[in-house]
Amino acid sequence: MHTKSLHQKVALVTGGASGIGLAIAEKLYQAGAHLAIADIDADKAKSALETIPEREGQKKAAIQADLSDVESIRRMVAQCEADIGAVDILVNNAGFQHVAPIEACEPAIFQKLIDVMLVGPFVATQAVFAQMKERGWGRIINISSINGKIGAPYKAGYCSAKHGIIGLTRVTAMEAVNSGVTCNAICPGYVDTPLVRNQLADLAKSYQLAEEEVLEEVILRHVPQHRLLEASEVGDMAVFLASEQAAAITGQAINVSGGYVMH
Ligand SMILES: NC(=O)c1ccc[n+]([C@@H]2O[C@H](COP(=O)([O-])OP(=O)(O)OC[C@H]3O[C@@H](n4cnc5c(N)ncnc54)[C@H](O)[C@@H]3O)[C@@H](O)[C@H]2O)c1
Repeated sequence: MHTKSLHQKVALVTGGASGIGLAIAEKLYQAGAHLAIADIDADKAKSALETIPEREGQKKAAIQADLSDVESIRRMVAQCEADIGAVDILVNNAGFQHVAPIEACEPAIFQKLIDVMLVGPFVATQAVFAQMKERGWGRIINISSINGKIGAPYKAGYCSAKHGIIGLTRVTAMEAVNSGVTCNAICPGYVDTPLVRNQLADLAKSYQLAEEEVLEEVILRHVPQHRLLEASEVGDMAVFLASEQAAAITGQAINVSGGYVMH
């Protein structure tokens, strides 16, 4: 894969202090981009950034930002510009999971899932969109999920946000058409990250299974490749979508799911 095209590009990855976001950040930096990691947890963002070996001529920055807060998102984009340059590649990745049956799901938690994983990406897109179009180049990569294409019991807010962001991806792609800016979503299957590990106990409760049965019965049983994915495999897809070679790909929702979902 040619990655030269990411040289001197500026990448901003939200939720970049952990899991998939960190893997995407590492891969974009290795591919030559300047890198800003934004996360709600400032210390975690700083230490995550330090785990990525320095490369000559490439800048790195850690930014504190809460993706459920409009002003915080606008400050994040402005700080990225001040620290390492105007955003060329925006990765809307920050997210969290909440497992509960509809009857037991607090509306406030449903709202928070939507705020962080749908409204936040919209506001971040809004904050970078005009300058990307003016400069004639940009990549917006939204991290959806296979739960953006299929429902899963006990994940009402999460599935709603992840379906919604595919709609946002398509509209963004349409509004950017012929401007040099593309927008795509990646739909990962189950990836081995804290987000997946931390939900096993709640899934066990909801499905009335023993915790050790959940991985096999609720998750792997549906995955043709029968494995949890590595975060770096999602990172590779993000680098490709950010590259010059992906210029014709826009408005897509691409599964990286070990065959779990095929549409
Ligand atoms: N792990 C999976 O199997 C999987 C599958 C499909 C989609 N995803 C999506 O990938 C993304 C990353 O998930 P992950 O598995 O790496 O999770 P993770 O928990 O390892 O990382 C999520 C990061 O987002 C940050 N974050 C949470 N709320 C935030 C907020 N309000 N503002 C800023 N940062 C915030 C967290 O601090 C954390 O660093 C999420 O959008 C998730 O829905 C994950």
